Amino acid sequence: MISDTENVPIVSYLAISIKKRLSWQAKSGERKNIDIKRQRLRDKAQSFFKDFHGDRRIGMVNMGNSEAINIGILEKSIKYTINIQFDPVRSSLTWNKLFPSWIDEENSSSSCPQIPMPNLSLYEELDVVMASLPCKWPETNWKRDVFRLQVHLVVANVAVKRGVRDERGKVRIVLKSKCRPMMEVFRCDDLVKREGEWWFYEVEVRMLEEKVALPVGSCKLASDSAKEGNNTHIHPQREAYATVLHSSSSYVCGAIVLAQSILKSGSTRDLILLHDSIPDSSLQALSAAGWKLHPITRIRNPHARRNTYNEYNYSKLRLWQLTDYKKIIFVDSDLLILRNIDFLFQLPEISAAGNHDSIFNSGVMLIEPSNCTFKVLMSHTHDVTSYNGGYKPWACYRDYDCNWNRMESRVYANDIAHWRWWNVYDAMDDKLKRYCGLSEKRKWSLENERKKAEKLRFEDEHWKLTTLDPRKYE
Ligand SMILES: *[C@@H]1O[C@H](CO)[C@@H](O)[C@H](O)[C@H]1NC(C)=O
Ligand SMILES: *[C@@H]1O[C@H](CO)[C@@H](O)[C@H](O)[C@H]1NC(C)=O
Ligand SMILES: *[C@@H]1O[C@H](CO)[C@@H](O)[C@H](O)[C@H]1NC(C)=O
Ligand SMILES: *[C@@H]1O[C@H](CO)[C@@H](O)[C@H](O)[C@H]1NC(C)=O
Repeated sequence: MISDTENVPIVSYLAISIKKRLSWQAKSGERKNIDIKRQRLRDKAQSFFKDFHGDRRIGMVNMGNSEAINIGILEKSIKYTINIQFDPVRSSLTWNKLFPSWIDEENSSSSCPQIPMPNLSLYEELDVVMASLPCKWPETNWKRDVFRLQVHLVVANVAVKRGVRDERGKVRIVLKSKCRPMMEVFRCDDLVKREGEWWFYEVEVRMLEEKVALPVGSCKLASDSAKEGNNTHIHPQREAYATVLHSSSSYVCGAIVLAQSILKSGSTRDLILLHDSIPDSSLQALSAAGWKLHPITRIRNPHARRNTYNEYNYSKLRLWQLTDYKKIIFVDSDLLILRNIDFLFQLPEISAAGNHDSIFNSGVMLIEPSNCTFKVLMSHTHDVTSYNGGYKPWACYRDYDCNWNRMESRVYANDIAHWRWWNVYDAMDDKLKRYCGLSEKRKWSLENERKKAEKLRFEDEHWKLTTLDPRKYE
């Protein structure tokens, strides 16, 4: 007879042995998965290095040989690995020091932080540059890791100055990284294969050269180096200015004046207007003002409230789909171009003005169209945030910038900028001026805000001026 107490160990033994079997199966399954993954990685690596034979040299950045053995390339055809030495940035050099909130534009020789680079004269030509990129994701601000930036830049410099170019002018780069390597350095289109943490690039060196030539961070102005440049990279027929209008006609006047100001600056580049939900009559005027019309489907900002003008302010991302052009200078339609800025086309993506700290102002930016970049940006619309503010000149009377009238907008007020905008307006055809009128509602709120400013007795006393703007009486 078997007692209950005797039964227990047998049951639990069975339970344990079943568990063991399950875990053994799971483990061998896991092992199988790892083997399959390793095999896939090897296949990718081998097809990437398929034409390799003889004495190939591979430069290793922030990486030991064992990591390369992992993907099986060292046992194949690569004979030499060379460790690229460089001093890691000091931990005291933070991202905010690279992107200071204030820069001295007059005195560009004032000291800017340096990121140490390897002494390239120590190295011969390299067939592949390989690197391990640190990735602190999901730590907050993991992208703003200066060491991560440094490794990117070391790889870029080594590839440009020591990389062997193939007949297409491309250099091979292999990066090991848990998170996507910086698209600002290694273009999305140059990625030819990916397997897990391994990213295989064939990089067009000429484009990488433009990036390597830039000063690092925002301490020195990149536009200075563009001004000194020799314009060999300029391809006018594949460069354009662009702006975006979506959802409402409130920026039509701005876009008209913007086109006129670009033409006045003497630029010969195409002017491209991306538009959605703009009435035909306005489109005719925009075309007459100089824009080539390019209809788009606007893109919603998932963070925006419904039925606000801003709701579709991610439409700008469509700029990356203008692949007939190599470079686009995007300009917000509330801006004015005061002199020829075509020299900026020498700069690479993304060149933009800083706003404060490491946030850039997307009001003017140079981008390189690419459907690949577009796709990646679209997949991140949920985790990117942006910001905004301010009354536009055409929403005020011409006498003064109405931003003076409101406490919250006074920081944006600038009579000189206001006056320059109206100068371009004055030179325009009367037919175009019609698009810059004021609605009755707007006139009412302008007067209302002026009265409030009077009550608050703002010291600048703009509220004392009586308006001479004929638009008031239209
Ligand atoms: C770089 O290496 C070369 C060759 O060894 C040497 O002559 C030169 O002084 C080094 N430069 C620096 C800045 O260390
Ligand atoms: C002009 O640019 C080309 C290409 O980057 C460069 O090779 C050349 O040295 C530059 N010439 C001058 C005078 O700066
Ligand atoms: C990029 O996408 C746009 C829009 O779908 C398309 O018109 C264009 O031909 C594509 N460009 C390339 C180079 O594939
Ligand atoms: C886009 O719209 C959102 C939501 O209204 C707003 O918070 C953000 O400031 C806007 N961004 C830009 C660049 O206009």
